[in-house]
Amino acid sequence: MFVTLERAQEILASGGVVAVPTETVYGLAASISHPEAIQKIFLLKGRPPNNPLITHLASPKQASGFVRSFPKDFDRLAEAFWPGPLTLVVPVIEESLSPMIRAGLPTAAFRVPNHPMARELIRRTGPLVMPSANISGKPSSTRAEHVESDFGKDFPVIDGGCSEKGIESTILICEEGRWKIGRLGGISAEQIGAILGYFPDIPTAEAVERPLCPGQLYRHYAPNAALSLETEIPEGCSVIIGFAGRKYPASKRVKILGGIDDPQQAAQQLYQTLRELDEEGIASAWVDSDFPEMGLWASIRERLEKAARKS
Ligand code: TXA
Ligand code: MG
Repeated sequence: MFVTLERAQEILASGGVVAVPTETVYGLAASISHPEAIQKIFLLKGRPPNNPLITHLASPKQASGFVRSFPKDFDRLAEAFWPGPLTLVVPVIEESLSPMIRAGLPTAAFRVPNHPMARELIRRTGPLVMPSANISGKPSSTRAEHVESDFGKDFPVIDGGCSEKGIESTILICEEGRWKIGRLGGISAEQIGAILGYFPDIPTAEAVERPLCPGQLYRHYAPNAALSLETEIPEGCSVIIGFAGRKYPASKRVKILGGIDDPQQAAQQLYQTLRELDEEGIASAWVDSDFPEMGLWASIRERLEKAARKS
């Protein structure tokens, strides 16, 4: 059910949950001062309680009420990328933020989103926790209709159009004075490196047992359809996810992510395309993974690899 900003504000003030557009993906919002609403978010998503939530702020200044100590270069990163698709994990004043949000950790994640509706809402309500508005493990929502498809037609959602970035924020965590990437996302490692003066560590597939972000432990972004990223198209696979201008076997149905020169367009289309596979009852699809390794492409590849995992 599409609701106005005013109605969303009322729902949040009375301890409810509402879906909110952001420039990355839609979020399921609850006020940080309503524990019952935060609890509801975990239940709605089927999210394990050991997976902490990101607190969304209206401005970088709001962070000072929560942060116990600002890691080196925090201000430079915030200045360069806030508002925008960057999340910073920092040590927090434990009394300032419910342990449910932090999953009991001494740190917490913060982001200032850049969607005008999200910003206006947070200005009115105060900080909001917002995990991606999808069932845990499934593709995120980049349109209000995706939220309705996951949570039902009666679920309140502010319609803010298609999410411009299309994939979640990049998460940075500071360990021993160096920022590391906990989750690739809408800001590339190269962009972060340009601000820090060094290239941040990127989690490798082998580091899965001790991920910097607890949420990275799980299969993610995954449609019911089996995805293959092999170089050859597996037998029996009738659908291809690929790029404009490329030649694919004529017997296959092709879903185009965009042009190979436009990772932003591919990111924007990614979750919509994965969701279409399930809407159309497609059992398996082959993804053309012959695309660059750099920049936003690295984030897209990471999402596809997680979505293709069997567990
Ligand atoms: O773009 C985004 O970040 C979206 C929009 C709605 O803002 N939100 C989002 O939230 O992707 P969620 O809950 O789907 O992912 C949050 C990630 C999880 O992987 C979680 O483990 C990690 O943030 N995280 C949160 N707090 C953390 C902490 N203290 N230390 C390490 N990782 C943390
Ligand atoms: Mg998520």
